[in-house]
Amino acid sequence: MTTADHDPRLDAYWMPFTANRQFKQAPRMLARAEGMHYWTDDGRQILDGVAGLWCVNAGHARPKIVQAIQQQAGEMDYAPPFQMGHPKAFELADELAKLTPAGLNRVFFTNSGSESVETALKMALAYHRVRGEGSRTRLIGRERGYHGVNFGGISVGGIVTNRKMFGTLLSGVDHLRHTHDPARNAFSVGQPEHGADLADDLERLVALHDASTIAAVIVEPIAGSTGVLIPPQGYLQRLRKICDQHGILLIFDEVITGFGRTGQPFASQTFGVVPDMITAAKGITNGSVPMGAVFVQQAIHDTFMNGPAHLIEFFHGYTYSAHPLACAAGLGTLATYADEGLLTRAATMADTFATALHGLRGLPHVVDIRNFGLVGGIELAPRPGEPGKRAFDVFLDCFAHGVMIRTTGDTIALSPPLIISAEQIGQIVETVAAAIRRVV
Ligand SMILES: Cc1ncc(COP(=O)(O)O)c(C=O)c1O
Repeated sequence: MTTADHDPRLDAYWMPFTANRQFKQAPRMLARAEGMHYWTDDGRQILDGVAGLWCVNAGHARPKIVQAIQQQAGEMDYAPPFQMGHPKAFELADELAKLTPAGLNRVFFTNSGSESVETALKMALAYHRVRGEGSRTRLIGRERGYHGVNFGGISVGGIVTNRKMFGTLLSGVDHLRHTHDPARNAFSVGQPEHGADLADDLERLVALHDASTIAAVIVEPIAGSTGVLIPPQGYLQRLRKICDQHGILLIFDEVITGFGRTGQPFASQTFGVVPDMITAAKGITNGSVPMGAVFVQQAIHDTFMNGPAHLIEFFHGYTYSAHPLACAAGLGTLATYADEGLLTRAATMADTFATALHGLRGLPHVVDIRNFGLVGGIELAPRPGEPGKRAFDVFLDCFAHGVMIRTTGDTIALSPPLIISAEQIGQIVETVAAAIRRVV
């Protein structure tokens, strides 16, 4: 790339998960945000169709969150989380434990979804070892799964582009088949009817490896980053049952489904399936300060609490675990969610969202539409020889017309802030429709 075609002041920053050269030739700079909107550096108002990156669930610049962060920054900037504590860490863990599914009342703080995944995988391995079943070292993920970008996460993850450049990854990992079945389920409204039997794939892996070698299965209740795959009816229940039969821990990665996206605080509650651990991040602070968490069944936590009381029970943690700014932001976030009933609002808006989204059926190149709560996926047929390009062009067109969406491959993903109005849902869907018509 020459500097002639872009501003050289953009050179130093190597942007993550971004087409750097394309971006730097035509930057999309966000300068301000409030409520449902961003404003670009040249003053254009952009409706946020993706809650930033599936995280700003209460909308932008919410006063209780802003004030909590400002006040905390002045009061105490940092406190070491190893062998020391600060009150807001305990307060936030306690508040979170009131929202999580029954029994998942122990909270380990991290700084991102990726770190939550690594933490949960390590906990699963250590848990089996502590209770004398150290042969359970195998981790099972699922094809098309996304569990962040660290080595554990990409090993159990199932997105080829995130894996193929990085060597042999973790050993002792296997994958369930994914649940995407457009031949039988295309244009399903809500949960697809067919595919509960795909959970039986775990029986195949048990038969291959033996349950005594398997520590845990990790899946997203709704797979987001692969293009919004809704679990078939009965699938998660069946997976839970098979895990129970074989003593395998079940981890739900709720980094995007947590904090109200599906109409309950956690998708686990919406789908009525309780895992052994939940990984979370994003909505925990409304995206305002980096933070993640692993919610753990008390019995798992308690298994670690043995041996001499002065010894560390779990050799794991981050310098910024339970960072005071993140804890303050988290408390402000939970207060905002509670004040406005946001953790169940997706259930109220789900029908309006579904109807608007499925209204796009029949537009050129639209081969499937998937939805649940306030999550939507619109899959386009790829342009021959240019995978992902058609959806990317729709993304650019929407941004030019004042709406921010996200695309992954040729699927458009929508996950607006939970404060969205029916009118704003209309604006997003109309803008996407116009873009799909314009982009060939
Ligand atoms: C299901 C899931 N797990 C993990 C992650 C990784 O989170 P982070 O980017 O905060 O590391 C994401 C991010 O989108 C995700 O969707």
